[in-house]
Amino acid sequence: MNINPHHKYHQNNISKTVDRFRQDILLDLGSNPKKLSSKYFYDKIGDELFQKIMNMESYYLTNCELDIFKTKTAQIADFIRPNNEPFDLIELGAGDAMKSSYLLQYLVDQGATFSFMPIDISGNILSVLKNKLNDSIPNLEIICLKGEYFEMIDQATTLSSRRKVVLFLGSNIGNMEYEQALQFCSELKDKLSAGDYLLIGFDLKKHPKTILQAYDDRTGITASFNLNLLKRINQELDADFDISQFEHYQTYDPSTGACRSYLISLINQQVTIGEYQIPFYENEAIFMEISQKFSPEDIHDLARESGFVTVTELYDTKKWFMDAIWKVS
Ligand code: AVJ
Repeated sequence: MNINPHHKYHQNNISKTVDRFRQDILLDLGSNPKKLSSKYFYDKIGDELFQKIMNMESYYLTNCELDIFKTKTAQIADFIRPNNEPFDLIELGAGDAMKSSYLLQYLVDQGATFSFMPIDISGNILSVLKNKLNDSIPNLEIICLKGEYFEMIDQATTLSSRRKVVLFLGSNIGNMEYEQALQFCSELKDKLSAGDYLLIGFDLKKHPKTILQAYDDRTGITASFNLNLLKRINQELDADFDISQFEHYQTYDPSTGACRSYLISLINQQVTIGEYQIPFYENEAIFMEISQKFSPEDIHDLARESGFVTVTELYDTKKWFMDAIWKVS
């Protein structure tokens, strides 16, 4: 950790982050229908719960993408590094970088000149990642960027003018509605330059029961993962959600590929957040998260409409997941 001598600046930064969190939460709970943003799931406990989700037998996504990164490492490396020029490997929402570590190790073994720039909204997970990678791949240069994706990409571009390769794994793109995903990819493309690459992971449409089971586990881990955001709001925004009066409800619509989670208020109740009162009706839903599933055609549409060119598409052995490599032309 760096000791920041600009104590005041640092303080301001923290309160800015809290302000943005408070504003988003109040706006989303004040809207009709109510919603919350799943990007706020990841505090320390949220990070731990997501690690637990990834270890669940039914949450197949991680193993599928891991299969791609373990068995197709050389292919990925050859596609994203067509020449020996130095580059920056940026990972959006890096988490613990478990999947990308196979690629990182391979690139280091190949003598590639590159910096790894993980971006995450969770400072907690970034320090865990840095310690882990420093131990396992000592020759790897790591520059951690804590914050919102686009702000941190701007920072990466300011820090270095090298060619950029962006990783956006885990079907994190599925946490956006289609229009939002399209907007996101277009904006990302605009921030990159000709010759840059995006490696982006998509969870594919498959048997609806397989998908529902991944998000509606009997052990209640996914329920806790959703409810934890209410606990976080209690702690950070001086609120009084009674967690026992909300219940996790999961849906999957096989015709659109939208997998959505909700928290249902079990009673009529008033919740206090700071100086605000939020009323909840019995059975009223808070929309928490979308985990969109894609067909290969959906993915081609997204690439084309956002202005990327598809370089290649890599599948796991079950063909349940796809990592697409897109290029800025
Ligand atoms: C991290 C966004 C890919 O949507 O599958 C897991 C989060 N939510 N179980 C997903 C999540 C419920 C996950 N992503």
